[in-house]
Amino acid sequence: MEQLKVRGGKPLQGHIRAAGAKNAMTKLLVASLLSDKKCTFFNVPNIGDVEITVNLCREIGSEVLWDKTNKTIEITTTELKTSYIPQRYSGSNRIPILMIGALLGRTNEDIIVPTIGGDLIGMRPVNLHINALHKLGARIEFREMKKEGAYFAQAHEGLKGAVIELEYPSVGATENTILAAVRAKGTTSIKNAAIEPEIIDLILFLQKLGANIMVDADRTIRIQQAHHFQEVEHTVIADRNEVASYAVAAISTKGRVFIEGAEHLHMIAFLNKLREIGGGFSVKKEGIEFFHEGTLHGGLHLETDVHPGFMTDWQQPFVVLLTQAAGVSVIHETVYENRFGYVQTLKEMGADVALFTQCLGGKLCRFASNNHLHSLVVKGVTPLQAKDIWIPDLRAGFAYVMAALLAPDESTISNVEFLDRGYEEFVGKLTALGANISRHAAPKKNPGQSKTAVRNLLAPADGAPALS
Ligand code: EPU
Repeated sequence: MEQLKVRGGKPLQGHIRAAGAKNAMTKLLVASLLSDKKCTFFNVPNIGDVEITVNLCREIGSEVLWDKTNKTIEITTTELKTSYIPQRYSGSNRIPILMIGALLGRTNEDIIVPTIGGDLIGMRPVNLHINALHKLGARIEFREMKKEGAYFAQAHEGLKGAVIELEYPSVGATENTILAAVRAKGTTSIKNAAIEPEIIDLILFLQKLGANIMVDADRTIRIQQAHHFQEVEHTVIADRNEVASYAVAAISTKGRVFIEGAEHLHMIAFLNKLREIGGGFSVKKEGIEFFHEGTLHGGLHLETDVHPGFMTDWQQPFVVLLTQAAGVSVIHETVYENRFGYVQTLKEMGADVALFTQCLGGKLCRFASNNHLHSLVVKGVTPLQAKDIWIPDLRAGFAYVMAALLAPDESTISNVEFLDRGYEEFVGKLTALGANISRHAAPKKNPGQSKTAVRNLLAPADGAPALS
């Protein structure tokens, strides 16, 4: 286990390059399993979640060459060695469950995917995935297995295209259904599908691979069965979560950071909200520059939503930014029922934040009649004080690093492995921007924290992580 020492109070200044998107790259690797042809990926982020996904693919027979210096991966899965995903990959990770969609059309063996329930941001069930795959003709059962249980999936009679209407535009359920539909007979229509940029990137990859996929304006995605597959070269889109994280870190520290590779098209909702509170940005040919240009003003109402709305993953760092904006702002989290777990620590650092079970703002969301604390009121400007912090999940982790960058004294941040899963070389990038941040071995494990600490799957032999 390692920890960070962060001493804040300095503006972030300089130039960094956006990494490839975690939530695209991991799915692209799984999608490559649909075919036996070589797929070459460029702009691959060097992060823990990609490492885990590469290990998963190797488990089932993929040959993977990962050149971390040149940020490329070549993957070929000529044949499947097994369709059993070992129990140690169990966790709240969305990746193993996507193996079902990718492998159903490739094997007659049972696909066995271990899984446990929710994680620290909500229950995260997979009912929408399972229902959609059933409609395509898969048989999927959850069976007790070892201590945790696993999904057993097969499509012995083949997959057949169907019309599927998702109750909610789930990113993972849309991806799983697309993957299965590529090998299902005929045409599949997914209504009320998620249309996040990472899904569009997946569709572009699949088109190169040999599938015909249409995205209609009304959130319907139509997939025709692919009969032949081709070798593919694909450049992964930039990570808009990473971009938003560094953007708000730059502005809240009163700095100026140019993020090369940041894609304007994928940041529209974010940039609108940034402008509403007085945050500066300038879209250039090669990326976006973010800067502080005078007092930030609160009074913002922000609702997280599916694309093209304001991403739930932007919410945590944005709340830290709002602690530095004068006035009261309201956030309504409509994607996850429990994504404000990080707030208590922010309060202990001096933030003026209160949580509510009601839907505060414009509309009632799915969580309106449940008792979830899913709305937040934040009042700025508040100075933040250093603290010893333990990271509960990836995005909360970056929010804490940001908060520590605002506190003049030294904070110690533990459970750093969460950040490694999603933020490429974040210590190097922050140091290049002038932050006073360093990484050390943690003195000793706190037993009270071990049950929710990220489990280590970077080496395929032991443990398992909780992933996003
Ligand atoms: N949901 C269901 N049933 C399902 C699937 C989802 O009820 O079968 C619910 C979830 O519980 C949640 C909501 O639908 O309340 C949204 O879940 P979704 O399936 O859209 O999310 P996901 O695929 O599990 C991905 C990202 C998340 C990101 C969300 C929303 C990956 C690996 N993860 O999760 O990213 O927040 O989409 O955009 O792609 C992160 O990167 O930190 C992260 C959490």
